[in-house]
Amino acid sequence: MWWLYLSLVWWCGTVAVAAPGISKWVCPEIAEEPVVECNCDVPHTLRCTGDKTALDIIGQKLLSLNSSISVSLLDCTIQNVSTISGPLLEGIALKGLVISSGEIKEIHGMAFGKLAAPLKALGLPSNKLVTVPTHALRFLSGLNRLDLSTNKLRKLESQNFKGLENLSYIDLSNNEILRIAPNTFSHLLHLRVLRLQNNRLTVSALFTLNTLYSIEDLDLSSNYLDGPLDSQTLPNIPFLQNLQLSHNSFSSIKMGALEGLPNLQTLSLHGNQIDVLEDHAFLYLSNLKQLNLSSNRIVAVSGASLDHLKNLIELDLSSNFLRAVAADLLTPLQNLRILRLDDNEISIVSSDAFKMGILLERLTLRENPLNCDCNLMDFAYWLSNSTIPKEDKKSVVCATPPSLENGILIEIPSNELQCGHQEPLLSPLNMPVRAHIHLRSFSFDGSKIVLEWYVEEEAIPYTCDALFVYEEDGSKEVLLESNPLKCNSSNLKDPRLLDVTVPNSFELSLGNRYRFCVVLLESATRSDELSLALGCSDVLPLLPNAPHKRAKPSPTAPTIQTTFTSDGTLTVNVDVNRSENCEVHLALFQTKGALYQKKVMKCRNDRYIFENLDEDVYTLCINLLKPNNNRDFKNDQKTQCVRVTKQQSTQMIQGGSLALIFALGSIGVFLIFAVQKCFQKSRVGRSQCFISSEEERPHHNRYVKLQATTKV
Ligand SMILES: *[C@@H]1O[C@H](CO)[C@@H](O)[C@H](O)[C@H]1NC(C)=O
Ligand SMILES: *[C@@H]1O[C@H](CO)[C@@H](O)[C@H](O)[C@H]1NC(C)=O
Ligand SMILES: *[C@@H]1O[C@H](CO)[C@@H](O)[C@H](O)[C@H]1NC(C)=O
Ligand SMILES: *[C@@H]1O[C@H](CO)[C@@H](O)[C@H](O)[C@H]1NC(C)=O
Ligand SMILES: *[C@@H]1O[C@H](CO)[C@@H](O)[C@H](O)[C@H]1NC(C)=O
Ligand SMILES: *[C@@H]1O[C@H](CO)[C@@H](O)[C@H](O)[C@H]1NC(C)=O
Ligand SMILES: *[C@@H]1O[C@H](CO)[C@@H](O)[C@H](O)[C@H]1NC(C)=O
Repeated sequence: MWWLYLSLVWWCGTVAVAAPGISKWVCPEIAEEPVVECNCDVPHTLRCTGDKTALDIIGQKLLSLNSSISVSLLDCTIQNVSTISGPLLEGIALKGLVISSGEIKEIHGMAFGKLAAPLKALGLPSNKLVTVPTHALRFLSGLNRLDLSTNKLRKLESQNFKGLENLSYIDLSNNEILRIAPNTFSHLLHLRVLRLQNNRLTVSALFTLNTLYSIEDLDLSSNYLDGPLDSQTLPNIPFLQNLQLSHNSFSSIKMGALEGLPNLQTLSLHGNQIDVLEDHAFLYLSNLKQLNLSSNRIVAVSGASLDHLKNLIELDLSSNFLRAVAADLLTPLQNLRILRLDDNEISIVSSDAFKMGILLERLTLRENPLNCDCNLMDFAYWLSNSTIPKEDKKSVVCATPPSLENGILIEIPSNELQCGHQEPLLSPLNMPVRAHIHLRSFSFDGSKIVLEWYVEEEAIPYTCDALFVYEEDGSKEVLLESNPLKCNSSNLKDPRLLDVTVPNSFELSLGNRYRFCVVLLESATRSDELSLALGCSDVLPLLPNAPHKRAKPSPTAPTIQTTFTSDGTLTVNVDVNRSENCEVHLALFQTKGALYQKKVMKCRNDRYIFENLDEDVYTLCINLLKPNNNRDFKNDQKTQCVRVTKQQSTQMIQGGSLALIFALGSIGVFLIFAVQKCFQKSRVGRSQCFISSEEERPHHNRYVKLQATTKV
């Protein structure tokens, strides 16, 4: 109703401005308490409230007014009136009239018969009309706008708007209309806008809209329309530009839907139950500029379902169940500028979805469970270089992995977009490191796996909490098994050494690659939240007693350079950048595991040459030793190994790419070198130590809390 109101105000305002010779308009004083009270909030507009005698009093007053005080719009709210019987406002020239009582059921045929000038706009909203007051309306041949919204109309008859050839706007919303007789609108050749929202129309009632020859704007939202939206759901409406079908129950969009609407530019299907968009669904809607499919059940937009929408500018797919954004979505939409994807289940944006050259002006992705791993790198790059507003860029927020939860994608350094952590919620891989626990040895005799962990002093006393095993799966790691773990450091002979036997129930396969992690609860620390300690191994292949390659190269580590030439000469250059006078211990193993030779070298700029090597492949293991400080051999030992192959060209081995083994004892080689913790308190030298980068993760207290309350 407000729109009629507004449009009348606008219209009358225009009239007022256009009327010459009127310098200042004065609001006529009409007040006769309690029966009527009027005021003017804009010129030429009189708003009145009163009882059933109000209209008579207003009519008399207006007649007696000096003709220079013209009222164009009269808006009356009257009480206790259910019938408008005689002629109203006799002799008064009005452009617009609105009468609401909340009660009017009946309007006498002569009600508008004595108005002095042709009424342009009539509003009878919020009454109880059961039928269109056809007889009363026939005197209003100049009527341009008619508002019968919020009444009790049940059906429209073909004679209802007879003689109202100049109608351009009809509002019939919020009624109970079930049926529309054929030809109800056929003579309204100027009709542009028809509001039928919030009625009881079913799809079978729509065929009589086939005579809307001139209509541009049709609102059918909130009706009882259901089933698939197909080519015949609406008849031919050649000039229709704007169609509202929101809040109905359409279930899908068939190929070639709405064939009879070749000029459609805006279509809203918000709030239906659409789950499938058939291929070529929009075959006949190539002029569409705005498509609103929000709040449906769309799981995927695939193949050719959005084909033909080459003029589409704005697409709203928010509040659906989309899981991924793929190139299929955007490729056909050459002119798309605004894309809304909020509140879906999108975790993946494929790397080819947003290519350079897509000129989106808006893109919103709020409330999606984005998984910020390496697969999002291209998207992140596109996003940060795109010209969409900052607020949109910031709407792209990660949900997983936990370490990146709530992180704004464009603010995450690309090296943190990593693959390999698939079970984020339970992954200890993302936990803060409170104290170092290192895997000291790993023994597998073919049936039983025993892990020996070294626990640093600051974590003692502790109790055990859980054991996790991750399996490497392509480029990812998935949580394979987890088990509660029982122990109490007070009962151990040396609480720094913790033996854990992997339960037989864990289904590990020979040759596959696993990472083992233990979680300890430090009983001595102050706060519960911070009392978890974690240790993880590197990814280890499950092979009995074999040296293994490390899974993930770390970019920062000391440089060991090897050259293994075809004449059997292996040259090892060491340059571990340490200020202290440390030593590097080398051990060279034959393929079968026998120790071939050992050698102690200096950390700085040292070289050693192994000669006359007759096998093609050796394993070279190195370890650091800080001499003269040999007090605790158990302290933080880490041995790194690498395979060297004959005839390889010069190879730069970054410490991170060295293989790491723990199973030397069982092949008869005792390779324990005392290594001073080179990354003790000061972390300056950390990158020079053979420490796996996985153990050094930033703190995420939120996650720890979760872990602490989600006991495994
Ligand atoms: C009507 O208004 C005009 C101009 O404001 C004034 O000259 C005239 O006297 C008024 N007539 C009456 C009956 O008030
Ligand atoms: C409307 O009618 C009711 C009873 O019929 C009465 O109580 C009330 O005062 C009336 N209101 C007006 C504004 O006349
Ligand atoms: C209908 O509108 C046209 C143009 O606005 C006008 O010329 C014509 O007089 C109107 N018809 C009636 C019956 O008022
Ligand atoms: C789609 O329709 C919904 C509901 O009317 C509205 O909130 C949303 O803004 C519309 N989207 C666009 C792009 O207009
Ligand atoms: C970033 O986008 C601009 C255009 O918006 C383009 O010219 C430029 O090449 C892009 N930068 C890169 C690195 O692709
Ligand atoms: C661990 O054992 C010690 C000594 O037996 C005991 O006092 C302590 O309560 C135990 N801790 C836990 C958490 O059970
Ligand atoms: C070695 O480390 C020191 C201090 O950490 C640094 O200043 C120096 O540049 C490093 N040298 C090399 C060759 O990396």
